[in-house]
Formats: sequence, C-alpha cells, structure tokens
Amino acid sequence: MTQYSNRMILVHWLTLALLVAAWFLGEELAEATDESQATIAGYLVHGIVGGSVLLLTVLRLLFRRQDGTPPAMGDTAMDKLAKGIHHTLYTVLFLLPVSGMITIASSDAGKALLSGDASLLPVDGGYEHVFAHEVHEVLVTTLILLAIVHVLGAIKHQFIAKDGLMERMLPRRK
Ligand code: HEM
Ligand code: HEM
Repeated sequence: MTQYSNRMILVHWLTLALLVAAWFLGEELAEATDESQATIAGYLVHGIVGGSVLLLTVLRLLFRRQDGTPPAMGDTAMDKLAKGIHHTLYTVLFLLPVSGMITIASSDAGKALLSGDASLLPVDGGYEHVFAHEVHEVLVTTLILLAIVHVLGAIKHQFIAKDGLMERMLPRRK
C-alpha cells in the first residue's frame, strides 16, 4: 500500500472544507452574540456544519481501520512527531464538535433551541460562566495550531525532502 484509500482521501479534504466553513460560521455566531443579535438559524447552520465534522471523523476512523494506512515514511523523531500530531488531530476533531454540543446543552441556547424562542438565546456575556464554551474556544485554537504544524510538515516533505508524501493524500491519476 503506497497511498491512502480513495475514501480516506475524500474525507480528509472534505473535513478541511467543512472546518473552514464551521470556523467562519462560529466566528459569525460569536460576533452576533456579542451584538445580542444571534439567531436560531445561525446556531443551526453552525451546529449542522460542525456536527458533520464529527460524523465524518467517526466514519474516517472506521475507514482507517478497514482500509489501513500507508507505512510511516521513516522512524525519525520527526516521523514520530507527525504520527503524534495525526492522533491528536483526530482527538480534537472529535472533542471540538462534542464541546459545541455541550455548550448548547449547558447554556440558555439549549432552552432557546428547544422552544424555538430566539429571545432566550445568550446575549453579550451570556457564555461567561459556561465551561464547555471555554473548552470549545481552547479546542478551536488548539486545532488551528496543530493544523499549522501539520501543513508545515506537508510543505517540508513537498518542497525540501521532495519525497512524494503529498501523493499519498491526493486522488490517483489514471
Ligand atoms: C469542528 C467543528 C466546529 C468548529 C471548527 C467550531 C468553531 C467555532 C468557533 C470559531 C466559534 C467562535 C468562538 C468564539 O470566538 O467565541 C464557535 C462558537 C460556538 N460553537 Fe462551534 N465549532 C464547531 C462545532 C460546533 C458544534 C457541533 C456545535 C453545536 C452543535 C457548536 C456550537 C457552538 C456554540 C454554541 C458556540 C458559541 C457561539 C457564541 O459565542 O455565540 N460548534 N465554534
Ligand atoms: C492544506 C492543508 C493540508 C495538507 C496539505 C495536508 C496534507 C496531508 C498529507 C500529505 C497527509 C498524509 C501524511 C502521511 O502519509 O503520513 C495528511 C494526513 C492527515 N491529515 Fe492532513 N493536510 C492538510 C490539512 C489537514 C487538516 C486541516 C486536518 C485536520 C484538522 C488534517 C488531518 C490529517 C490527519 C488526521 C492525517 C492522518 C491520516 C491518517 O493516517 O489517518 N489535515 N495530510
């Protein structure tokens, strides 16, 4: 096996696209909350896009078990770091959407969504004492930092080592 399976490749890039959208929608939602103008629709769209990252991550771990992965590029400290970052990325991809769901369940947003009454949604400062909200924010930052290191690693392989690692995560050319 020299490459990831097609479905692993598809889910890798689809997750990236959904993450960018969820991040943007989350920032918009937080801004709307600060202006006391958040809407039920804003919550639903962010929750659905973010929730689909969770669904894709569960599917991805299942595919990974069934399809396997190409062998590690080597056994250096950098290769081990890359593997550790992959595992941490999976953990954060799972915990981040879950913390978002707990944020809703443990705040006034839960009541607002259940009743469909937007006037109950948290307004500026409404998440101050919601622990899951802080966890959600910390996980967003953690994910961004991990993704930056991950992408720098991919760039190093592509342009410095020139060892063809990128091909493992790109669709096969026939
Ligand atoms: C991987 C997927 C997700 C990403 C990347 C993401 C990203 C974000 C970001 C960037 C924020 C703004 C944080 C801030 O600056 O205050 C946010 C807020 C929030 N997210 Fe997510 N999120 C994800 C999944 C979810 C899910 C699945 C839910 C719930 C079903 C959710 C619920 C929330 C809530 C309730 C807030 C607070 C909004 C506010 O402060 O008004 N998130 N998210
Ligand atoms: C432009 C952005 C990205 C590039 C160029 C990229 C590139 C790659 C490449 C080349 C691999 C294969 C590594 C190997 O064979 O050892 C890989 C694997 C992986 N990528 Fe990315 N990636 C990007 C963004 C992301 C993002 C945003 C995430 C998650 C938040 C992510 C999560 C992963 C994970 C978890 C693996 C390990 C797959 C496995 O072994 O199960 N990637 N990426």
